[in-house]
Amino acid sequence: MMMEPERIPVHVSLIMDGNGRWAQQRGKERTFGHFEGVESVREISDECLKLGIRYVSFFAFSEENWNRPRKEVDTLMELFMSNMHSQFGNFMEKGVRYVVIGNRSRLSDKFNKTIDSLMEATAANDKMTMILFVSYSGKWDILQAARRMAAAGADDLEPYLATAGIPDPDLIIRTSGEKRISNYMLWQAAYSEFVFTDTLWPDFRKDSFHAALEEYASRDRRFGKVKK
Ligand code: FPP
Repeated sequence: MMMEPERIPVHVSLIMDGNGRWAQQRGKERTFGHFEGVESVREISDECLKLGIRYVSFFAFSEENWNRPRKEVDTLMELFMSNMHSQFGNFMEKGVRYVVIGNRSRLSDKFNKTIDSLMEATAANDKMTMILFVSYSGKWDILQAARRMAAAGADDLEPYLATAGIPDPDLIIRTSGEKRISNYMLWQAAYSEFVFTDTLWPDFRKDSFHAALEEYASRDRRFGKVKK
């Protein structure tokens, strides 16, 4: 795909939705959709690397998702963990830095250890940063940042957000026909472009991603200013 470099977003974020419906359409359990969804994550992140996108993030699990049936929650946690183990070599080979953002106090010790070692081992990789939002919500982030800011007697919130150091998302893509932000990066999305697609996450692959990038490239971003 040919695209002018300035039209390539620095940070693309994906709200992966529709795994359950994808599985149900096939008469399978919801978790079957999550397994297939992992393939989409792999394909999209590989594509980001190829296109020179510096940051790609995935909304994998929200604070609200803790209210899902225990079995589904456990399966998702196992899926995140096993994927981190199996992809480790790939991240090192391709120069991908891996970052997990969210309320980690709710994650198991085992999962937190896996995250710490992966983040530490990939910290110096500089081709691309891949971010997994787990146990994350935008309201939680703003609240924890406000508390820490106040404790420090500071008056600038951004350095205290869980995303500090990561550029705000230029483009947020949501799959499966839902048109909401669902308590995602509420602060950081202030000037993000949104692309909504009816495609269910497990079907969201390279071609759908390119279509979303084309749509982004055609947008006129003014950040509240008048056009030059
Ligand atoms: C939303 O679909 C999806 C999730 C809550 C889980 C997303 C997780 C993955 C795609 C796995 C990613 C794995 C790695 C390793 C990054 P839904 O279940 O809400 O679908 P529905 O709206 O059709 O019910």
